[in-house]
Amino acid sequence: MYRLGWLLSGVLAVVIAAMTYFLVLPGGTKKAEDGRAIIVLAPSERDFVLAEMRGFLETLETLEAMTIGLADRDMPKVATSARSRGLENEGDAPASIVAKLPWAFKSLAMDTHRAFDTLAAQAEQGADRQAILSGLGGLMNKCTTCHAGYRFDVESEVK
Ligand code: HEC
Repeated sequence: MYRLGWLLSGVLAVVIAAMTYFLVLPGGTKKAEDGRAIIVLAPSERDFVLAEMRGFLETLETLEAMTIGLADRDMPKVATSARSRGLENEGDAPASIVAKLPWAFKSLAMDTHRAFDTLAAQAEQGADRQAILSGLGGLMNKCTTCHAGYRFDVESEVK
């Protein structure tokens, strides 16, 4: 009886370790010549993530609108734009992509969405414009930190 308990906990430990390995840690990366870690994706997966990235900058609801809103002292515009990129409003990425992203990458991506939420809350609560601008600078630092560390390559391009 005693032995069975040990055996079961042993099996459980192995299962948990395997799940951690496959679900949490993965996204094995290679090092590129420019020093960044390469995340290898299928072409359609890369297109998906890059479209999300351009959305951060391009669409009328995000960084562009936030910056214009700050310049115009239009805080409701800043708040709605920031909120649209917050954690709650972020659509789920396909599981196949999530599985390929390293944990540190996912964590930084979540931090970035949280930073949008923080800015939205500041704008909603009538925070000082200067404080929101400095928060915006901090948020952009997350973008550049990740860009300095990672790049995407598609499967066929990796030798
Ligand atoms: C967790 C990591 C991460 C974060 C955070 C991140 N990016 Fe990116 N982004 C990437 C990677 C990786 C690429 C692809 C770079 C490459 O392959 O050279 C990329 C590419 C881009 C591109 C190019 C898109 C294209 O079509 O080529 C834009 C624009 C962009 N990001 C904007 C942003 C902005 C703005 C933010 C912050 C609000 C941001 N990203 C935050 C990882 C990130």
